[in-house]
Amino acid sequence: NTPLRVALAGLGTVGGGVVRLLDANRDLITRRAGRPIEIVAISARDRNKDRGIDLTRFAWIDDMRDLAGHAAADVVVELIGGSDGPALTLARQTIAAGKGFVTANKAMIAHHGLELAQAAEAAAVPLKFEAAVAGGVPVIKGLREGAAANRISRVYGILNGTCNFILSKMEAEGRDFAEVLAEAQALGYAESDPSFDIDGVDAAHKLSILASLAFGTRPAFGDVSATGVRHVIAADIAEAAALGYRVRLVGVAEADAHGLFQRVHPHLVPVDHPLAHVTGSLNAVVAEGNYVGRLFFQGAGAGEGPTASAVVADLIDIARGEYGSPYAMPAAALTVEPAADT
Ligand code: NDP
Ligand code: HSE
Repeated sequence: NTPLRVALAGLGTVGGGVVRLLDANRDLITRRAGRPIEIVAISARDRNKDRGIDLTRFAWIDDMRDLAGHAAADVVVELIGGSDGPALTLARQTIAAGKGFVTANKAMIAHHGLELAQAAEAAAVPLKFEAAVAGGVPVIKGLREGAAANRISRVYGILNGTCNFILSKMEAEGRDFAEVLAEAQALGYAESDPSFDIDGVDAAHKLSILASLAFGTRPAFGDVSATGVRHVIAADIAEAAALGYRVRLVGVAEADAHGLFQRVHPHLVPVDHPLAHVTGSLNAVVAEGNYVGRLFFQGAGAGEGPTASAVVADLIDIARGEYGSPYAMPAAALTVEPAADT
């Protein structure tokens, strides 16, 4: 069988995880994909960094933007990050070159997802970003496929593993904010600039993607009001507990007759609510549909293994012949007027 040939940009937490997962589950992945998935070229900033993986079997490309035109690759996987700059250039050039594109980059999808999706559809190539929202939790596939027949009224959840890890460690172990943040960084959960996590920006990126899929609008990150967890102190958590609540950073998108409202901020969640039991780096998303009722998705929202799992699932879909993007839906599917472009 003809392999699906992959060019990989980024060999950090997630990129390294993708190499390890493709190695570890090679036979199973080949069976499920119907053909082998083979990395043919790689790029990162530092060629000489020891990443604990044998990378000598892959072609090293100095300027990762050259991966777009790499003759031996069918698909480019971007695991670098950043809403604009090299990641966006790589995305545009890859699609223009008629190749598939897979990314975990929620910042880029929140800002440029629709443009990239339209380009991918016009070029009849796949654009996939399951890992961009809630790490290993298949919430994009769940909304796009599982809730496809529903009018959704509300989607909400815990969308940032770093913040949830910090809040639940502060709560359970009485630990200091800064110390737990350092631990989340060491575990590979945090963004390269952790203020994106703790100021609610990362959760807002993800919420705008979820909302655009749930409500059929363009991602409108600028319409999300976001407050993070930077100012939550141990006393807040203790007082909430005394009153029967837990503190969680929750993103909510809901539509009513006046439009779509999106917000991310620390919430007091009653202890008997399922979101109160989402601890550590877990994420959870609830979607309310008019026929399916309440869907609850939960699982590991950050870190090497879960995120690589979502990236490779996208590659398996592509190997099986899927193209288009999660945004591939006719205009008639729109349920809410698109918000102003941002
Ligand atoms: P890391 O910082 O661990 O890795 C980033 C990689 O990109 C590194 O290998 C780095 O090279 C490379 N890189 C950065 N800039 C450039 C450049 N200009 N040219 C070439 N290579 C470059 O990040 P993560 O793996 O954690 O995250 C990658 C993406 O996945 C981001 O978009 C992130 O938001 C997203 N994501 C991350 C999750 C997680 O849990 N970590 C979960 C879900 C999504 P070098 O190693 O040489 O420095
Ligand atoms: N920094 C992100 C988080 C990674 O903590 O949730 C997963 O998107």
